[in-house]
Amino acid sequence: MDFTLTETHKMIQETARKFAQDELAESADIRDEKELFPYEQIKKLGKLGFMGMMVPEKYNGAELDTLSYVIAMEEISKVDASVGVIMSVNNSLVCYGINLYGTEFQKEKYLKKLSTGEYLGAFALSEPEAGSDATNQRTTATLDGDNYILNGTKNWITNGSTADIIIVMATTDSSKGSHGITAFIVEKNYPGFSVGKKERKLGIRSSDTVSISFQDMKVPIENRIGDEGFGFKYAMKALDGGRIGIAAQALGIAQACLDASLKYSKERKAYEKPISELQAIQFKLAKMATEIEAARLLVYQAANLKDNGLKFSKQAAMAKLYASKISVNAALEAIQIHGGYGYIREYNVERYLRDAKITEIYEGTSEIQHIVIARDLIKN
Ligand code: CAA
Repeated sequence: MDFTLTETHKMIQETARKFAQDELAESADIRDEKELFPYEQIKKLGKLGFMGMMVPEKYNGAELDTLSYVIAMEEISKVDASVGVIMSVNNSLVCYGINLYGTEFQKEKYLKKLSTGEYLGAFALSEPEAGSDATNQRTTATLDGDNYILNGTKNWITNGSTADIIIVMATTDSSKGSHGITAFIVEKNYPGFSVGKKERKLGIRSSDTVSISFQDMKVPIENRIGDEGFGFKYAMKALDGGRIGIAAQALGIAQACLDASLKYSKERKAYEKPISELQAIQFKLAKMATEIEAARLLVYQAANLKDNGLKFSKQAAMAKLYASKISVNAALEAIQIHGGYGYIREYNVERYLRDAKITEIYEGTSEIQHIVIARDLIKN
């Protein structure tokens, strides 16, 4: 595979890097500390075309490839991983799926607005009793005339209180297991929709994570995505792409750790010379850089397979598994290199560690990625 970036890829990288520096860098710490949602910044990202990167121009998207998307995700997450996840959910789990499986009506009504940042999307699969075991859905959807009536609770919903629409997985036939799960587009102003507790998190604090509930909520039949029973496949296919986005987020955090460590180690002196001249520090920098390059290749490989219409579930899982692990490692090493200064807030690296950890958990834990990879190895 040739991963030489094209002029378009380089332009996206430059645009994302400039946006991150100009619009995110200065305020990221404050948003993290005060848990403030980046409303203004997300609108601006939408105007730049970064909220619907892989959506066709016909539906107001940027009509770019997955490689462009991961390049942008890395640059944004390098500076503010909270903005990274908001962007990732909208692009991978919402826009990508509606574009692939939605009806013309759904694309006209929702996708066009999601692509420009006018609307923000969320994805609701997890429930209090359905996390890794995602088939164990308790939310129900019962057909009643021209509507489905939804009842149930979803939790850990990224963008849950800020989204305009939410893709909700619900059981339409509990006797059919995963084949009885159906996906719906739900508008936040439907009567019966409510937002519950906002989670107080270790990291990615400026993205909102909430539980949401539906009580006898009517969803018009035209808001069903695909046939009844297609919901679990929708979720899995969206998550395959989503895992590439989260891997790119993890990669961005890891790169930020290396950049900060290089800068600090060249400035900080011990024994009358920069600590970058100490072999103990050099080994850490070399290991971080090597792992980051390896992770980037895995992320690019998964994106490339997806762009070429080839199977990519296993490679997406590998990219997420590896990038999230080396991201946490890089953050720990960055703190170690910074010593006491790494443990306080001034140098950002403590935020990078708090942000990196979630990449090993959401959109499928590392344990789930092992399962996806192993099943693919055994089957093929
Ligand atoms: N693509 C298409 N279909 C798939 C698929 C994929 N990648 N993976 C599974 N399926 C299909 C299977 O083929 C099967 O269909 P058939 O019966 O027709 O063959 C059906 O789905 C059920 O699959 P399994 O029997 O493999 O189901 P399982 O119960 O063993 O679970 C799992 C599989 C991979 C472990 C899955 O449950 C899983 O991914 N769990 C993790 C859930 C997850 O990632 N949650 C993240 C929440 S969203 C989030 O975090 C977003 C956020 O806010 C940031």
